[in-house]
Amino acid sequence: MAFLPQKFLFSALVSILCFAFEVSSYRRVYTPPNVTPLTSSFPRVPIDRGFSKSFGASNIQYLNNGSMATLALNKTSGSGLVSQGRYYYGFFSSAIKLPAGLSSGVVVAFYLSNADKFPHNHDEIDIELLGHDRRNDWVIQTNLYSNGSVSTGREEKFYLWFDPAKEHHYYSILWNSYHTVFLVDNIPVREFIHSNSYPSIFPSKPMSVYATIWDASDWATHGGKSPVNYNYAPFVASFTEMELSGCVVSDPSETSSSSSSSTTTTCSKSSSSTSGLDPANGPEFSKLSQQQIAAMDWARRKLMFYSYCNDKPRYKVMPPECH
Ligand SMILES: *[C@@H]1O[C@H](CO)[C@@H](O)[C@H](O)[C@H]1NC(C)=O
Ligand SMILES: *[C@@H]1O[C@H](CO)[C@@H](O)[C@H](O)[C@H]1NC(C)=O
Ligand SMILES: *[C@@H]1O[C@H](CO)[C@@H](O)[C@H](O)[C@H]1NC(C)=O
Repeated sequence: MAFLPQKFLFSALVSILCFAFEVSSYRRVYTPPNVTPLTSSFPRVPIDRGFSKSFGASNIQYLNNGSMATLALNKTSGSGLVSQGRYYYGFFSSAIKLPAGLSSGVVVAFYLSNADKFPHNHDEIDIELLGHDRRNDWVIQTNLYSNGSVSTGREEKFYLWFDPAKEHHYYSILWNSYHTVFLVDNIPVREFIHSNSYPSIFPSKPMSVYATIWDASDWATHGGKSPVNYNYAPFVASFTEMELSGCVVSDPSETSSSSSSSTTTTCSKSSSSTSGLDPANGPEFSKLSQQQIAAMDWARRKLMFYSYCNDKPRYKVMPPECH
């Protein structure tokens, strides 16, 4: 009997030490507010059906019957997937687990772009996870480009409230006619409202969805001061629980067999949408709920450390949406 409490004390001490180690190895661990998960409103798609390999094919593996993919970066190549469809609005999401260990210079990205189709006036909506060095944590950078304005990045950067290399977490983009919303584990971290008073600054042409890992030694970590260290390669990111719910635009000019110039749009159905055809553009997705707004305030207050709207040295005149 006498040693039982001691044994209990010992195991308690071990747990406390382990917990302290976890916390100190990843500095920012917070409990986020509860939100109704947007990811539950849309169906999952098998990755090997929704996507094709766009580069570094030998560094991509499909697992679990195509429901999961690992993308690796090694000294030979990064790797990337591109959606088979081109979307005009939609909800796009993936659960992602980032490479463990030091990963400075590595970027894992989940984004929308049409640069292949509109090289001079492309649109882009980015979630970029920027690797870290010994002293820092992974950073999530969100960005938007509209109609070719690559000179006007609209970056916002956040720390995460969990260790993103330990488990899969959801990274999602809602893009519809009302707004673009970036979400992490269903917590909106950023909402970019589409105002008709400045239509040229929000993405408004069909885009493809990309999931990639690549070497961004020249900028990702400390503005390029910490390049990728290939002693730690391969860097492997895992993607699963993909959701691509939107309206797929098919342009007959892309298929040689057709001479018609009209585009056709096919919208997938979402399980909860009450808006009929367009799964992510109905009234229920037109604005954030009070609960989502409160969660977004939490994330921005606690974890945002850069917004272009606060970058006075960079802009002589602040972009209009910052006011
Ligand atoms: C594998 O995935 C396909 C759809 O991509 C599905 O039809 C099939 O039932 C799955 N097989 C198993 C064993 O889960
Ligand atoms: C990178 O990975 C690919 C696929 O596994 C392999 O063929 C190649 O040799 C690797 N390169 C290096 C430098 O390890
Ligand atoms: C986008 O750019 C094209 C070509 O530069 C221009 O014709 C068009 O008006 C622009 N669209 C918007 C919404 O600004």
